[in-house]
Formats: sequence, C-alpha cells, structure tokens
Amino acid sequence: METTLIFVKPDGVQRGLIGRIITKFEEKGLQIVGLKMMKLSESLAKKHYSVHKGKPFYPGLIKYVTSGPIVALALRGPRAIETCRKLMGATFGYKAEPGTIRGDFGISGSFNLVHGSDSPEAAKTELALYFGKKELCDWKPALMEQVFGSE
Ligand code: RTP
Ligand code: MG
Repeated sequence: METTLIFVKPDGVQRGLIGRIITKFEEKGLQIVGLKMMKLSESLAKKHYSVHKGKPFYPGLIKYVTSGPIVALALRGPRAIETCRKLMGATFGYKAEPGTIRGDFGISGSFNLVHGSDSPEAAKTELALYFGKKELCDWKPALMEQVFGSE
C-alpha cells in the first residue's frame, strides 16, 4: 500500500475543476486520507520544486503555483504513486492522452491542473511538507476488499 501527495493547482481551482479532478481519483478506487485547501507560500513552493531550481521554467513555475489557492490531497492505494501519475497524464495537456486529467481538461503548455509525487521518496518528503501527522486520517474503507483485492 502506498500513500501519495497530489494537489489541484491554482488553474484547476480557478476553473472550478476541484470536484471533477478529485472524482477521477476517487472513481479509480484511491482512498482519500488527507484533504485541504491552502495557499502555497513562496518558500514551500521552492522547497517542493527544488529539483527544478535553475531550469528555465523554474521562476514561472513558482509564480504559477503560488498564484492562488491549491487543494492538497493524500491518496492511498496499491501502487498509488504510479496509478495517480497515469491518471494525471503527460506533463502538458496538449500531449496528455484523452481519459487522463490533463488530457481531458487541459490544452496549455504551461498550466497543467494537477501535481503528483513521482516516486516513493518524493511522496514521503512531499506528504510531510503538506500534512502534519494529525491531519492524515487512517480509516478503513468499507469496500476495501472488493476494490483493492487481496493485496
Ligand atoms: P508535477 O511535478 O507538477 O506533478 O509535474 P510533472 O512531474 O508532470 O512535471 P515536472 O517535469 O516535474 O515539472 C514540474 C512542473 O513544472 C512546469 N514545467 N514547465 N515550460 C516547461 O518546459 C516546463 N516543464 C515543466 C509544469 O507546471 C510541471 O508540472
Ligand atoms: Mg514532477
């Protein structure tokens, strides 16, 4: 079982897509164990995207993700990290496959609606950046066996 950090980016919030984006993850069978709206401070945004520091798009990226509120989610399930990345689609909407969140809702080459951790290490670090231990809710979904199988 894995837990991953997702957030609906400011364009997703502004476009009224919070519900539809969360629904994609919920319908897939991922369990929500953390959820909150917040505004990213510049320092948190820089910590989060530190791997991209120095790249040409970095200043624009920091400006973008701090431009308005985001909705952060902690999602749990078998292979949750890879599954969420697949649901999100390729980085930009014009390349992302239809059926994915970015492919269905986005066309921009700079705004892309949603973030997802890309490795177990990133998920661990990012979950700690966004959620205190007491903010994560460890509950047992009633249909867990049916949705997750025997894993
Ligand atoms: P994310 O980290 O937000 O989930 O997105 P990602 O893994 O699909 O893409 P990544 O390569 O990690 O890039 C992080 C974010 O930076 C912006 N970006 N702009 N103009 C560009 O070439 C460019 N490349 C990346 C995007 O907002 C991307 O989500
Ligand atoms: Mg990334």
